[in-house]
Amino acid sequence: MLPNLTITFTLNGEERTIEANPAETATFTLRETLGLTGTKLDCAEGECGSCTVIFNGQPACSCLMTAAQLHGAEVVSVEGIAPSQTEHADVQRAFVEEGAVQCGHCIPGMIVSGAALLAKNPEPTEDDIRWAISGNICRCTGYAKIVSAIQRAAQMRREAMATRV
Ligand code: FES
Ligand code: FES
Repeated sequence: MLPNLTITFTLNGEERTIEANPAETATFTLRETLGLTGTKLDCAEGECGSCTVIFNGQPACSCLMTAAQLHGAEVVSVEGIAPSQTEHADVQRAFVEEGAVQCGHCIPGMIVSGAALLAKNPEPTEDDIRWAISGNICRCTGYAKIVSAIQRAAQMRREAMATRV
């Protein structure tokens, strides 16, 4: 087993320094070392998207990354999507309002992929949304409500911008 390394990275806007086995998965580091269990582990081989985080601005499967790759990176996990601990993000509210959640296992990854999309494309088409979540598997919902939720979040964002102008 490799000796632990000191790993410094930005997580949800805060600089974190941890000791971790460089070969462990980033999912393990987030869940077990840092206690952020919002990121789910399912297939552990890059197929399901349950473990999605935003890594240097792009959605990525944390199960395919090692802890060593976190060093120097900027990471947003589902816990960092909300603006504060007492306020949900528009994407999270939209999932609730649209009833887009069943068992919930895929939802953190879906929310992260949806938030990553809206950060780059505030007016996504349905195709854009389906493409953005194409790496996220949901066994329950049939995807329609998840797509509606991301459309609803985009609308909320546009409405919030309009009231600010
Ligand atoms: S747990 Fe990472 S893609 Fe499935
Ligand atoms: S809500 Fe159950 S897997 Fe998506």
